Amino acid sequence: MTSDKVTPDWVRSRKGDDHKLTLLPAYDATFGGFLDQAGIDLILVGDSLGQLVQGHENTLPVTVEDILYHLRCVRRSVKRGLLVGDMPFMSFQISREEAVRNAGRLIKEGGAEAVKLEGGVDVAETIQALSRAGIPVISHIGVQPQSVLLTGQFRASRGKAMDDVRKLIEDARAVEKAGAFAVVVEAVPESVGKKITEAVSIPTLGIGAGPHCDGQVLVTHDLLGLFTAFKPKFAKRYAELAQTIDEALKEFIQEVQDQSFPDDSHSYHLKDEDLLKKIEEL
Ligand code: KIV
Repeated sequence: MTSDKVTPDWVRSRKGDDHKLTLLPAYDATFGGFLDQAGIDLILVGDSLGQLVQGHENTLPVTVEDILYHLRCVRRSVKRGLLVGDMPFMSFQISREEAVRNAGRLIKEGGAEAVKLEGGVDVAETIQALSRAGIPVISHIGVQPQSVLLTGQFRASRGKAMDDVRKLIEDARAVEKAGAFAVVVEAVPESVGKKITEAVSIPTLGIGAGPHCDGQVLVTHDLLGLFTAFKPKFAKRYAELAQTIDEALKEFIQEVQDQSFPDDSHSYHLKDEDLLKKIEEL
């Protein structure tokens, strides 16, 4: 099933089977195309764009309009993967009506096929309202970046005390019951990721939640080595693109300075000898 369109139903049916789901964020058409053509199952226009595209310290300033803009860009290049729009801070917390209105905009105006929102038991009624409105929902439990003002910029992983583990399982069960078709689990010990995965019948998509989850998530900029200021323990780098980019830019500067660029093979040449002569005589 690599060429058929990914749907929420297909994602839900991967629970417990051999196909491990993959989810990565993209913020523009170029990267949306890379991810889709490589076969990534779920492509998220995540509010991590606050840091990685907009240069903010955290995700809090990201607006519905920002997510919409990037969704439209990514929409144009994603064909097979399920396109998911992140619900930014304050787009779903104020009331269920606002949550449905904003999620509806991500679907209608941005072309998203599902939305993701942070929270467990606390957002269960919102997930229920979205599901009733026909909007497929992924929830995001464990470390929740939108809670940075409560938890601090350098967030510790979750699930290190028994009460917290119980709360995480309660969260996962609540979002499943409310109608979520998958749940992102961020930064919990792998034993807790396993327990959560066993506790629900929807797929768990782990980001720093160990190997037992039904799928894996990374931030694309971490995976490709594009973001190097900080590396969470769980983030594996499959490439060192920041280094490759730096080397390419320095080589360009050097070749411009020593005038080896542009050479003949990167210049246009007139074939009309008469015209060439006239230009030279000008
Ligand atoms: O915003 C984002 O990119 C995310 C993923 C890391 C799950 O929430």
